[in-house]
Amino acid sequence: MRFSVLTLFPELVESIVQTSITGRAIKSGRIELETIQIRNFAVNAYGQVDDALYGGGTGMLLRPEPVYAAWLAATGQSCPAEVVQHPELTRTIFLSPKGRVLNQALVEELAACPHLILVCGHYEGIDQRVLDAVVEEEVSIGDYVLTGGEIAAAVLIDAVSRLVPGVLPDQSAHEQESHSLGRLEQPQYTRPSSWQGQKVPDVLLSGHQARIDKFQYLSSLKDTLVKRPDLFNQLQLSAADYQELIEFACQDQNPLV
Ligand SMILES: C[S@@+](CC[C@H](N)C(=O)[O-])C[C@H]1O[C@@H](n2cnc3c(N)ncnc32)[C@H](O)[C@@H]1O
Repeated sequence: MRFSVLTLFPELVESIVQTSITGRAIKSGRIELETIQIRNFAVNAYGQVDDALYGGGTGMLLRPEPVYAAWLAATGQSCPAEVVQHPELTRTIFLSPKGRVLNQALVEELAACPHLILVCGHYEGIDQRVLDAVVEEEVSIGDYVLTGGEIAAAVLIDAVSRLVPGVLPDQSAHEQESHSLGRLEQPQYTRPSSWQGQKVPDVLLSGHQARIDKFQYLSSLKDTLVKRPDLFNQLQLSAADYQELIEFACQDQNPLV
């Protein structure tokens, strides 16, 4: 899986992605991170990449020429006349507060493409014409405005990389985590079994795997109901699931709120 990031601040993306699990995935060659400095394609010797807005307004906008030249470099094509797009092999994404909001379903969709080109805006953003020419999808990491697309790109790379085979030590780990099955992961515990008077639920120490699995499933459903009722409402539960969840939630040890 290859990520090419078009940015004015490569060190910002690199410092995040080259750390911890994604950093190890780069070292082992399971993912590849390439940052392309948009300023290397400046329109003049002063390194200019932005300009004032037509029609007025505050702030500066990235000009189309440097962004387009950086995108051509990411696709390995130097001559605009030869440009061919292969969305199944390479997908160009603009990180933008106007985009489709990133969730696990979109992360899984993106992980199926072997090369993602991530375009990071800064300042007021990027001239619309170059976005229209190269971008296949706009992706937002939430309904708020960041100063630049770099942190959003790092978030996307992190989430997608977890799905690349071999990046996580246990390949099935992500399948049990929040959102993978449409619900939240159950609360988890480690040693000590008793801490500040709070005990780990007895069943988790019982060694009885079928009972543990049932407890964890119901804990996951309960957490989803309490914390994300919007997700809970989309789950396809059986009548038996509802009955067991009600009984589980009514136990003193596990109040619903
Ligand atoms: C200050 S923002 C520009 C906001 C733009 N003028 C608007 O109102 O839609 C600068 C850049 O940060 C990135 N950005 C900001 N918020 C984002 C978000 N929620 N998700 C992804 N990228 C974001 C985009 O690349 C954007 O071009």
